[in-house]
Amino acid sequence: MKKMLVAMLGAALVLGACGGNGDNNADEPAPADNNNNAEETENAAGDATYDADNAESVYVGNCAGCHGGDLTGASGPGIAGMSKDEVLTAIQEGPGSMPADLVTGDDAEDVAAWVADQ
Ligand code: HEC
Repeated sequence: MKKMLVAMLGAALVLGACGGNGDNNADEPAPADNNNNAEETENAAGDATYDADNAESVYVGNCAGCHGGDLTGASGPGIAGMSKDEVLTAIQEGPGSMPADLVTGDDAEDVAAWVADQ
């Protein structure tokens, strides 16, 4: 008889504990708005992008004749490995016998970034 009482008390305690946990779970707030993270990653990478297709056609049409199709030079010097700023400056100033402002605006920005990426 004593064993039976102990067993019933134990069962009551276990049931009580379970009920308490159930209430706590229901109170937890649901996580919200975590989806924005993916977009932020794309934007961070987007800062370095340019129109590579336009850049390549600008290079072939305006620069390759003097700097070579592979940037290693022809009548002009090789320009492989130069930074975007160096290329932009050369485009604007036209060093030596290179004509200044062969391309301007977005075309100049694109081709300078493209050369720096090669
Ligand atoms: C008519 C030929 C000609 C064309 C077209 C031309 N360049 Fe040049 N470029 C030169 C010559 C020559 C030099 C070297 C000038 C000097 O320093 O005496 C030069 C220099 C440069 C330099 C600097 C190289 C260095 O080592 O400092 C860069 C960068 C450059 N050109 C990029 C371009 C880009 C980009 C284009 C296309 C928008 C272009 N060039 C079109 C002839 C040309």
